[in-house]
Amino acid sequence: MKNTFGTCVCVTIFGESHGSCIGAVIDGLSPGVKLDFDLINARMNARRAKGEVSTKRHEDDKIDFVSGVKNGFTTGTPLTMLIENKNVRSGDYSKTEFLARPGHADFSAQCKYHGFQDGRGGGHFSGRVTAALTAAGAVCECALINKNILIATHIANCAGVTDRVFSDYEAEIKSLVRKVFPVLDDEAGERMKAKIIKAKDNLDSVGGVLETAVIGMPAGVGEPWFDTLEGIISHAVFSVPGIKGIEFGAGFAVAGLFGSENNDEPVNKDGIVTHLTNNAGGINGGISNGMPVVFRCAVKPTPSIAKRQNTVNILTGENDIIEIQGRHDPAIIHRAAPVVTAVTAIAVCDMLSQRYGTDYFSVGGVGL
Ligand SMILES: Cc1cc2nc3c(=O)[nH]c(=O)nc-3n(C[C@H](O)[C@H](O)[C@H](O)COP(=O)(O)O)c2cc1C
Repeated sequence: MKNTFGTCVCVTIFGESHGSCIGAVIDGLSPGVKLDFDLINARMNARRAKGEVSTKRHEDDKIDFVSGVKNGFTTGTPLTMLIENKNVRSGDYSKTEFLARPGHADFSAQCKYHGFQDGRGGGHFSGRVTAALTAAGAVCECALINKNILIATHIANCAGVTDRVFSDYEAEIKSLVRKVFPVLDDEAGERMKAKIIKAKDNLDSVGGVLETAVIGMPAGVGEPWFDTLEGIISHAVFSVPGIKGIEFGAGFAVAGLFGSENNDEPVNKDGIVTHLTNNAGGINGGISNGMPVVFRCAVKPTPSIAKRQNTVNILTGENDIIEIQGRHDPAIIHRAAPVVTAVTAIAVCDMLSQRYGTDYFSVGGVGL
């Protein structure tokens, strides 16, 4: 499938940066999921551009629920959300319209869509489309919360500044919901912001690492081979533009450990099997083991920078020089965090529905 993700809970996203609107359709989500509009707004707000560390393009990102919701509950039929593009300035792109931005998808999109793509503001490849993904993920999160499954993402590292690690998952996951610059240590967050602004002043951009935790995930979810829990989450996470790597638990560091250091020893605590450590990131054999599912993903520096760079004209094939105008994020990491949370929620909802059925998240019901 092309712009659709999922097997039981399927999410399709559509739209372009400078088109009239973007949106998402969720099909297969249980009926009777109560939408928590405070949570949905908090996720949309966290992704929205704000302040010196974000693009100057500001959108209100109001979601119009045009189908699949009645009296604040999902109906179980396709749930369609539209988000208008209001603050569009296509003129910013006219001078460089046919110059492939280094690091962006202009050249690869040309190869796939043969010039028919809408390249304005990055078109369908723009970070703008992640507003629709965030909305879809927030709806899925409402379903997960019914099952006490909570998700959050923080900036583990940005431009060389490191946040502290999770110490109390539940409390910290809850506190991250309201943060627009999602760090556990706010002082480290201020230093990250200073680095982002410094890079912007140098006509440049920076990247970093996001860390996501899913708690309350029941053991036994995932498939042993192709549709492993890591595989499906990774599939979803790599849909977020700008993500270039992912690792679960101790990740690449396992390569340097002894088995005795890496193994997570199971222990029965009051009748519940848990593990003394979580180097596996909550997944063994592609299947959840009941520990927090923890992963980190690498977010690249924003490709559109104002520095002079070499490029190629995608119409003529000639070498050229590009100096990018327009409004861009000097770092995307803080805005990508709620998007990674969103795609994780979609992936987890889909995996749980595959395991337990598409009524899994239904609450109550009336009549027969
Ligand atoms: C929330 C968000 C905002 C983004 N903002 C910008 C931006 O302002 N300028 C830009 O060049 N890229 C931005 N990106 C990244 C590009 O969309 C992405 O690098 C591009 O589509 C190419 O995809 P790739 O990096 O996965 O190869 C943003 C990504 C996200 C997730």
